[in-house]
Amino acid sequence: MLGLIVARSKNNVIGKDGKIPWNIKGEQKQFKELTTGNTIIMGRKTYEDIGHPLPNRINIVISRTTNYPGVITVDSLEKALELAEGNIYIIGGYNLFKEVIPLVDVMYITEVNMEVENGDVYFPSFNEAEFEITKGEENSDFKRLIYTRKNKSDL
Ligand SMILES: NC(=O)c1ccc[n+]([C@@H]2O[C@H](COP(=O)([O-])OP(=O)(O)OC[C@H]3O[C@@H](n4cnc5c(N)ncnc54)[C@H](OP(=O)(O)O)[C@@H]3O)[C@@H](O)[C@H]2O)c1
Repeated sequence: MLGLIVARSKNNVIGKDGKIPWNIKGEQKQFKELTTGNTIIMGRKTYEDIGHPLPNRINIVISRTTNYPGVITVDSLEKALELAEGNIYIIGGYNLFKEVIPLVDVMYITEVNMEVENGDVYFPSFNEAEFEITKGEENSDFKRLIYTRKNKSDL
């Protein structure tokens, strides 16, 4: 299973100044539940934002310039996918999301109930018609949507 996990603002921002521009209690709970025991794949800047390997899962960082202790570093998504085990989750940023959207089985998209001014990283646009959308948890701070790829024969 290949998926991606992202949280985006109402105006589609995912990053600002190298960080995620919100800190909402409980927002990352689903991330931990999904990824523990599986594989996360991320770009260098996303890893630098997290700052350390996340425990109890395989951490793969994609970079052409840097190696980090405690994580697997490769220089392409293709190599990362070869080394991944279990369910594979791409966790950002922009270029990896863009590269992987055509390949994913499922996208866990959390829509954060705020507009972010001066964001500098956005979630890529994609064809919603290729996915079936299921609603998950919703509260005043965010709502969770699961985009599952439709069978080609349904299109
Ligand atoms: N809201 C969310 O859910 C979420 C999720 C993830 C990240 N973010 C935010 O997004 C921002 C970071 O995202 P970003 O798009 O700027 O950067 P990023 O994708 O995390 O990192 C970019 C770097 O990753 C490497 N890379 C990415 N794709 C590659 C490929 N196909 N082949 C080889 N190397 C590749 C390159 O590293 P080298 O330059 O070392 O070669 C590139 O400079 C931060 O603000 C972060 O907090 C938000």
